[in-house]
Amino acid sequence: MYLKRLEIANLRNYSSQVIEPDLFFNIFSGSNAQGKTNLLEAIYLSCTGKSFRTQRESEIISWQKEFSYINSLFETNNRQVEVRAELLPGKKRIEVNGILTRGYPQGWPGVVLFKPEDLALVKGSPLERRRFLDLEFGPFYPQYGYLLGQYNRVLMQRNNLLREIKDKKEKNSSLQVWNEQFCQYGSRLLLQRIEIFKLFSPLIRDIHHDLTGAKEDLDIRYLSTLKINVPSSVEDIYSQFIKGLREIEEEEIKRAQTLIGPHRDDFSLYINNRDARTYGSQGQQRTIVLTLKISQILQWHKEIGEYPLLLLDDVFFELDENRRRALLKRVGGLVQTFVTTTGDHKVTLKDGFTVKKFIVHAGRIVDIVEGE
Ligand SMILES: Nc1ncnc2c1ncn2[C@@H]1O[C@H](COP(=O)(O)OP(=O)(O)OP(=O)(O)O)[C@@H](O)[C@H]1O
Ligand SMILES: [Mg+2]
Repeated sequence: MYLKRLEIANLRNYSSQVIEPDLFFNIFSGSNAQGKTNLLEAIYLSCTGKSFRTQRESEIISWQKEFSYINSLFETNNRQVEVRAELLPGKKRIEVNGILTRGYPQGWPGVVLFKPEDLALVKGSPLERRRFLDLEFGPFYPQYGYLLGQYNRVLMQRNNLLREIKDKKEKNSSLQVWNEQFCQYGSRLLLQRIEIFKLFSPLIRDIHHDLTGAKEDLDIRYLSTLKINVPSSVEDIYSQFIKGLREIEEEEIKRAQTLIGPHRDDFSLYINNRDARTYGSQGQQRTIVLTLKISQILQWHKEIGEYPLLLLDDVFFELDENRRRALLKRVGGLVQTFVTTTGDHKVTLKDGFTVKKFIVHAGRIVDIVEGE
C-alpha cells in the first residue's frame, strides 16, 4: 500500500498543499516549527481516522479558519482507497471510497508511526507499555478491542462497588457476581496477550539481531499480576484469577481499587538477559522501539499481504549508520517511508529505488529534490 497523493487545506500552519510522494522514500526537511510533523499527522489521520497528537481534533483546523480537509489517495496492486476527511469544530466526517465511515474499519491503509515520545516505552511507566500493547499489538486480534472495552467497563463498576463496600453502603457478598464477569473478560484478554507474545517474540528477536549485527538478544516477557503457568488455558487463568481476588479482597476494599488483572500487568524487555528499563542506553532504547515497530510492519504484511506505511518523526537520522542500513535492508523499497529531519541529509537506497526530499518552510513545500 502506498500514498499516491495527499491534498490538505487549512490544516495547522498549511493553507493549501498537494503532495505526490515518492513510492519508496520521502524526507520532509526544514527548520523547527515549519510544518514537518503536521504532514505526518495528516497522513496518519488518513490511515487511522485519528490524530496522534491530540484528542481534540479541532486543534488541527488552522487558526481563524472554519474547517479543514485532508484528501488522500492510496494504492496497492489491485485496489485504490480514497480517504476524504473533513474537520469542523467539534465534528469530523470521513469518507472511504465515497462511503461515510466511523471508527477504524477493515481495509483502511495500514500505518506504523515512530515518534520521539515512543522512547518512553522502554523506560517509562507500565502504563506506556500497556498502551502500546492495547493500541499497537492488540488490533492484530480482531476480538482484542472488544474484550478490552468490556473488561474496562466491568473494572470501573467493580471499583465503584469496592468503594461502596468500604463506605458500608453495600455488602461484601455483592462482589461475587461482578468477580465472575470481571474474571471472564480478564482471562480472555490475558490469554490473547499471551498469544500476542507468542506470536511476536521470535519475530522481535530476529529483527533485533539484525539491527544490532547479532550483538544483542532481545527478550520480551509478559509480567502478569496473576500467578499463572504458561502455557495456560482460559479456564486455568479464570480459576487463578478468582482465587487471587479472594485472597486480596480485604486489601482491595480498604483501597477501593482492583489490584490484580490485565489493567495492572506489564512487560519487560531484556537485552542479553539484562532489563533494558534499568540498563538500556539511549541508542538501545531507540533500537528496541524500532524493532517493535518493524515487527508490526512484518506481521501486518504476513496477515494482510500488503505493507503498511512507515512514518518516522525525528527518528531516522538519529539512528547510527549501521542501524539505518539494517532498517533499510529490512523495509527499504518495500514499505513507503516518510521521515522528518531538520538536517540536510541524503539517503541512498538500492538501485531502482527512488527518494524524494520535500523542503518545508512556514507551512509550504518550497522545493522538491528527487534522486535515486
Ligand atoms: N491550528 C493551527 N493553526 C495554525 N498553525 C498551527 C496550528 N497548530 C499548530 N500550528 C503551528 O504549526 C507549527 C508546528 O508545525 P510542526 O509541528 O509540523 O513543526 P515541525 O516542522 O515538525 O517542527 P520540529 O522540527 O520542531 O518538530 C507551529 O509553528 C505551530 O504554531
Ligand atoms: Mg516535528
